[in-house]
Amino acid sequence: MLEFDGITELASIHMRTDYYFCPAGLEKLLYSELQSELPGARHEVSQPGLLRSEFDDADPPHPAVLAFVTQALPHANLCNCNSISEWAELILSKLTQIELSSTWHLHCFDAAFAAVVKQPQRPRLIRKKLEELLARKLRSARRTLQAAEAPAHAGDLVQLALLSPSSAILSVLPSTQRTFFSACLNPFQAGAVPIPNDKFPPSRAYRKLLEAELLIGRNIGPGETCVDLGAAPGGWSAVVLSRQALLTAVDRSPLRDDLMRNPGLTFQKGDGFKFMPKQTVDWLLCDIIAYPQRTLELLSTWLKEKCCRAFVVTLKFKGTPDLKTIAEAKRLLAAHSRHYLVRHLQSNKNEVALVGEL
Ligand SMILES: C[S@@+](CC[C@H](N)C(=O)[O-])C[C@H]1O[C@@H](n2cnc3c(N)ncnc32)[C@H](O)[C@@H]1O
Repeated sequence: MLEFDGITELASIHMRTDYYFCPAGLEKLLYSELQSELPGARHEVSQPGLLRSEFDDADPPHPAVLAFVTQALPHANLCNCNSISEWAELILSKLTQIELSSTWHLHCFDAAFAAVVKQPQRPRLIRKKLEELLARKLRSARRTLQAAEAPAHAGDLVQLALLSPSSAILSVLPSTQRTFFSACLNPFQAGAVPIPNDKFPPSRAYRKLLEAELLIGRNIGPGETCVDLGAAPGGWSAVVLSRQALLTAVDRSPLRDDLMRNPGLTFQKGDGFKFMPKQTVDWLLCDIIAYPQRTLELLSTWLKEKCCRAFVVTLKFKGTPDLKTIAEAKRLLAAHSRHYLVRHLQSNKNEVALVGEL
């Protein structure tokens, strides 16, 4: 145990400890996933919705691609402090030990509110206190600190997850290590992706597409070409058309009437598994209800033939997602995609989204 100024930091006897938040009820899935992704480490469920992994080496064996994670806190320590001021002082002391890059993020949240955008008062007060300290003692860091709601796609990431008023997990991840953890990190505080409510799309499925875009940090833009397979009733298509993108939608059923009349839409009634574009499109979107193996074969063909530049594809499972199929998806994306996520989204039930860029 390290002690300074009355603040205690529980130093791990292991070289490195990571914590992973997951949605309630998915602990077993994340545990199994961690075991297969990082077999050299010891994993345990530390409390509902939170797992801990301990490594004997400071450097992880390889990046973990995790589907059932809400947020990862790599290189973490368990800390104790008695007041808001002490928490702020502790974070400040950590900041003085590292060379901050030109952009850094502080995500301060309550573990009981992981995956919740609006945080309770205590984590917000700790952030406010730290901002005051920085303004007095470390002005350069105050200037480069990003807003709490700004997505942390790059830069240093400091996370404080309160387990109780006086105990927390503190993780400091320098920007140089960001890419290593990119397939398990969530750029949003507490792993809560802020998806705006929209009554216009004909289905709530639109939330999956917005979440996928936010997670990967790339939006469908004006003039981009998109193919939406299994598009009806048109939740994803409504998003694409609202961006002034050019859309070919394929389904056995038509989209909602007003979408069908949209001049940006070319609708093709038929089997999405038989559709191939004449030339490379910017986005492949696929939300067909089908056996996951079939969807993987479809994606494999599109990726191998370089038919798209980016993709959002859902793998749907009958009941609990199957980790073997998910591992196969990870191998496919590792082989063909430069930047990708395999992720159980906030809006997913028994499904996992494959999101990436070639
Ligand atoms: C979950 S819904 C898609 C929802 C859509 N993404 C949205 O935002 O509204 C699945 C769709 O897949 C379609 N579908 C199922 N099998 C298909 C196939 N072989 N080819 C094309 N569409 C198919 C169904 O008709 C259904 O409209």
